[in-house]
Amino acid sequence: VGAATACAPSEGAVVAPSQAAAVAPVTPGASKSTTGAPGIGDPDFPDDGNGGYDVQHYDLRLSYDPASRKLAGSATIEAKAAQDLTSFDLDLHGLTVSRVTVDGGAASFDRSKDELVIEPGKRISNGHRFAVTVDYAGVPEPMHDSANLGEYGFISTADGAFVTCEPNGAKTWFPSNDHPSDKATYDFRITVPEGLTAIANGEMTGTPQTKAGRTTFAWREKHPMASYLATMTTGKFQVRTGTSDKGLPIYVAVADSFRGSLDQLLTQTGKITDYWSTVFGPYPFSSTGGVIDDYAAGYALENQTKPIYGGFSPEPAIIAHELAHQWFGDSLTITRWRDLWLNEGFATYAEWLWAEHTGQGTADSAFKRLYANAADPMWAYPPGAARADDLFGAAVYNRGAMTLHALRREIGDDKFFPLIRAWTDAHRYGNVTTQEFIALAERISGKNLKGLFDAWLFQPRRPAPLAGP
Ligand code: ARG
Ligand code: ZN
Repeated sequence: VGAATACAPSEGAVVAPSQAAAVAPVTPGASKSTTGAPGIGDPDFPDDGNGGYDVQHYDLRLSYDPASRKLAGSATIEAKAAQDLTSFDLDLHGLTVSRVTVDGGAASFDRSKDELVIEPGKRISNGHRFAVTVDYAGVPEPMHDSANLGEYGFISTADGAFVTCEPNGAKTWFPSNDHPSDKATYDFRITVPEGLTAIANGEMTGTPQTKAGRTTFAWREKHPMASYLATMTTGKFQVRTGTSDKGLPIYVAVADSFRGSLDQLLTQTGKITDYWSTVFGPYPFSSTGGVIDDYAAGYALENQTKPIYGGFSPEPAIIAHELAHQWFGDSLTITRWRDLWLNEGFATYAEWLWAEHTGQGTADSAFKRLYANAADPMWAYPPGAARADDLFGAAVYNRGAMTLHALRREIGDDKFFPLIRAWTDAHRYGNVTTQEFIALAERISGKNLKGLFDAWLFQPRRPAPLAGP
């Protein structure tokens, strides 16, 4: 969904008379511009995503050769125009584009920083569906952000690639509307040298096919997915599949050096996914899983159906965190990055709930330990507005989780847990905002909670202590 496209900077742009004549009559107040905006309207990431259309589906045919580090691909993007379009952008970082077609006809294109600007041969009318195919190749360059994100996107490794894209690294390997507010379904056909495994989201469709020393893996994610959750992780992997106690298919893969963690990862992933479905509501996707690669990223990412652990064997608490994200982040996806506490606060709170469930300490004790430190820098950082230059700051995780605990204490377990299930149910596969969560919490509890959320999410100081023991 591209609701944010209303903020497109080209809105109300002055159109030269000659151009205006070519534009169909418009309803009063509607934009006369037929140029899709270069950004989708996220105030903190103005260049991310694009305006003027909604992607429905990505069909990605890719081959990767670890020896030359060369990626070659053809991406077909099925989209629906949200305005009349004579040109529109896709996000693409590096790589060389050889050909672009729109509905099968040649289109001209240009590159400008991380924007691929496309001019179809004829205008696309508002509301119409269209398919754009981009043929491209090159050595992908990951994103580097020395401030706090480190390296992300398509990262080549000795035997393949480690692909984790949050927040905006999908554009390092496929042309996309690279912003979480435009979710779509995905088909992947990934070809790698024989002996390697290619892992993407969703489930495999058919068995891998080997021809002339190269194997093609087909994967399909049939539920809407944000671009930052897409992956094409490749390399030498040990793979195991299974079924959880509740009957959910599980796919796990580990790099050779983590072969000792394969069984554990399978068992824990099944157990934790099943448990979360009793707490958060039905599991939203058709399989669960996990990947341990030997690239030492130092972090994990909740890739849809396939969380990835970068160079470490995860403790159950980390698996619990990444699997909680399947509900909070993946099924319910933020509309703009400043609301990131809706992902990280919830996933961190899930770690506390996991500890509670396994008898390793209560959420209340985790809350109290953090609250006791009056000098913690998180008190100066209101987590309700995650900062572009410190997106994954500790406040977003810990103070975000504390916000949920303060809410739980205020409304009681008998309202808190039904609220969480109502939240995942109301917005399954959709996009969400903090305001929507506050409104639902007030509706379900019957309480005015504006003061609580304001103090915990939006004030640059430590809130008053919780009432009671
Ligand atoms: N969402 C991930 C997690 O909490 C963190 C991703 C960090 N991304 C990065 N580029 N450093 O598990
Ligand atoms: Zn997280």
